[in-house]
This record gives sequence, C-alpha cells and structure tokens, in this order.
Amino acid sequence: MSATLVLENVARHFGGVPAVDGLSLSVPAGQITGLIGPNGAGKTTVVNLITGLLHLTSGRVLLDGKDVSRCEAPELARAGVARTFQNIRLVPDASVLDNVLAGFHRHEKTGLWANLLGLPSARAETRRLKDEAMTLLERFGMTALAQYRAGGLSYGHQRRIEMMRALAMRPRLLLLDEPVAGMNDAEAESLAGIFRSVAADGVAVLLIEHNMRFVMSLCSRLYVVAAGRLIAEGEPEAVGRDPVVVEAYLGA
Ligand SMILES: Nc1ncnc2c1ncn2[C@@H]1O[C@H](COP(=O)(O)OP(=O)(O)OP(=O)(O)O)[C@@H](O)[C@H]1O
Ligand SMILES: [Mg+2]
Repeated sequence: MSATLVLENVARHFGGVPAVDGLSLSVPAGQITGLIGPNGAGKTTVVNLITGLLHLTSGRVLLDGKDVSRCEAPELARAGVARTFQNIRLVPDASVLDNVLAGFHRHEKTGLWANLLGLPSARAETRRLKDEAMTLLERFGMTALAQYRAGGLSYGHQRRIEMMRALAMRPRLLLLDEPVAGMNDAEAESLAGIFRSVAADGVAVLLIEHNMRFVMSLCSRLYVVAAGRLIAEGEPEAVGRDPVVVEAYLGA
C-alpha cells in the first residue's frame, strides 16, 4: 500500500526524558488513521514532529517516500502538510472569514507588488479566495458567522475554524489533534461526515481523539501509544478488544 506519511523509529527526548520513544507508523492516502493513547502518551509531540515544529532526536519522517525529517514548518506546509491545534490557535480579534483566509496563504498566485498596487489580477485573486473560503464556511455550517470575531465564539466553532483554515491549505496530509474535544455527540457526528469526505478526496488523515466510539467509527487503522511507545496497532475492532489497550486506558 502506498503510504503518504511514514514514521520510522521516531524519537524525541526532552532533557533526556523520552516523550516519543521509537515510534513507527504509516498514514495512507484516502484513509483516516487513528492515533490514540492516554494523556501524556506523546500524541501531540508526534504531530509537532511531523509538522516541523519540533525536531527529531532520532528516526525518520517520510512524505511520499521523501525524507522530510530536517524540513522546517513552512516547507512542510508548502509540501501539503496541515494540522489543527489541540490548544486552539486562531487570531482571536480577526473575523472567522479572515482566519480561514489565512490558510490560503500558500496558494496565492499573485505577488506582493500586485497586491500593494491593487492590480486587477490581485483583486480577482482575492475575490476567488473569498469565494473558496465561503464555500468552506457553508460546508461547516458557519456562513452566518463569517464576519464574527473568532475569539468570541464557542470552542466548537473555534475548532471548526481551525479545520477550515487547515483545509484552505488544500492539504495532502491532514493532522487532527483532538478536533472534537468538548463537542457534543451531534456536533462530533456532523464533523465525522466532513472527515470522511476529506479522506474520500484522497487526503491522508491522522486523527488523534480520546472518544473511542468516535475513533472506531471513522478509522481504518489504529495505533495505540503509551509513554511514547507503540503498544498496539491494527483494525479498530481488534485493537479495542486488546487487553493491553484496555489496561493502558484503565490504568491511566
Ligand atoms: N516542549 C516540551 N518540553 C518538555 N516536555 C514536553 C514538551 N512537550 C511535551 N512534553 C512532555 O512529553 C510528554 C508527551 O506529551 P504530549 O503533549 O505529546 O502528550 P499527548 O499524548 O498529546 O497528551 P494529551 O492526551 O494530554 O494531549 C509529556 O510528558 C509532556 O509533559
Ligand atoms: Mg495532546
């Protein structure tokens, strides 16, 4: 199976203490792959390593077979890696629309000068991006909130803005760090449909989530980590029954 993202024996230590300790996994295009584990297991650290926010202590990260272990965050963003943040990171005083537009940054075709001079090409580009952003808002049921201040909205809405901004990057690899945390079942279910359709479009999706029922219903494959190490992997059904996994959760 051709995998978009592969981690090979990845480790990251903080002051000699391992947060991620020799992890290998693969996230194929067109599927949702789950990464689960107790608090402090190293899940967010994995996302930070993949996106270049943190550098590896050892191991390799491969994107479509190319070693991107030493790439910086902007380079990875240009290569099509997008994420959402567990601790929401929006521009709180900017509007919902402007926060989503920020995601289009890497796709702007016209240059800085065209923009500054207000050339027709720049204006047409701005209009096109706004239309595209509004299409995303519609998909997430937030059209009416386009001009609202992002920071004044509920966590559920802010998490949706995070996802729209990530999708505006038209990613090949999408990393979702607890995207439905704090949402009720109905809200989470409406987002599940969006995650499925994103994967169906060929995007490789890595989903981190504590709600086992949610994860099981969405993922083709699960990786379970505890203390930075892989303790189980496989199809959701089998993993959910694995005594080692049950123990890791009950013990946490
Ligand atoms: N920048 C950092 N400096 C020092 N230690 C860190 C840093 N980032 C993470 N850690 C440590 O690494 C370990 C893994 O943390 P991480 O946030 O990756 O866990 P997690 O699986 O995402 O947990 P949660 O489910 O609570 O979000 C923790 O012990 C944490 O304290
Ligand atoms: Mg985390």
